[in-house]
Amino acid sequence: MRGYQRLELPTNNEPETVRRQFAEDVLVGLSERPRRLSSKWFYDDRGSRLFARITDLDAYYPTACEREVFERHAGDLLDRFRGRPINLVDLGAGDGRKTAVLLRYLVERDIDVRYVPIDISEGAMAGLVESMGERLPTLPIAGLVSEYFHGIRWLADQTDRTNVVLFLGSNIGNFDKPRARAFLRRLRNALNPGDHVLIGFDLKKDIEVLLTAYNDPQGVTAAFNLNLLNRINRELGGDFAVDHFRHYGTYNVFSGAMESYLVSKEAQTVHIEALRDRFTFAPWEPIHTEYSYKYLPEDIDDLCDHAGFEGVGAFMDSRGWFCDALWRAHG
Ligand code: AVJ
Repeated sequence: MRGYQRLELPTNNEPETVRRQFAEDVLVGLSERPRRLSSKWFYDDRGSRLFARITDLDAYYPTACEREVFERHAGDLLDRFRGRPINLVDLGAGDGRKTAVLLRYLVERDIDVRYVPIDISEGAMAGLVESMGERLPTLPIAGLVSEYFHGIRWLADQTDRTNVVLFLGSNIGNFDKPRARAFLRRLRNALNPGDHVLIGFDLKKDIEVLLTAYNDPQGVTAAFNLNLLNRINRELGGDFAVDHFRHYGTYNVFSGAMESYLVSKEAQTVHIEALRDRFTFAPWEPIHTEYSYKYLPEDIDDLCDHAGFEGVGAFMDSRGWFCDALWRAHG
């Protein structure tokens, strides 16, 4: 068994609908003060490729740290699932290289695992199913092309397997605290008692390390952030002169988040055809594009309690820079 199915969606993921939502979001965000564009729009094909390059940079430590967590703690994380069939459910798998570390461990120990990536993009899904199938030819794969919560609800209605839901890479860090709480509560509500979640949290650490990770010397992060303007040009008929903006990544010590901005280097006016509107930027005016929240261990426990999970374990890399928390949904 190797493949995926498209779940009938309550929300529409047709390209034209997505483009309309993008246009709507850009209009609202560029009309606000301060201006903002959501990081959820980073990941078109070019953005996803740039992000994959970021995860290979020495400066961008989270990916290497999380891989080390899985290599160090695979047994502590996964041996508890011996003797019961599980779905390893992957939200936002990306290229799946970190998940492959967990899957290889499970397959080698004959733990009855089925891999269930969930992604709204059929292109991303097809690529992932294919590459994971090549890496682990005996692994059953049953992907769902769906919005996350719809996919999880559908899975939880089939009660033959325990669900272990992965939300890795500190993707949770893009949400501020109220949104992170809401997301985890929804996740808890969609699961059955006895299901588990494994969530990656990037921990608070020396500010220089954070600043370097989001301002890498090769400029890949800058290109990743600036690609949002390229995407507006491509999909919405914008005429952003991308080199008249610069990437700026800074750490907010009060909120505990890395914050990314695109800053207009000069006075300029941009026309966006799909919005039938123009936007005038003052010299050095910023557009906020991303929050990447950093956590203390107690923040993680607090989120766990609030969402109604039971903490089962917290696993860190050797430097104590990254934490994967395993939580269980109780009855
Ligand atoms: C994939 C959202 C976890 O916030 O660190 C990488 C994205 N932004 N470099 C992060 C990102 C700048 C990344 N997440």
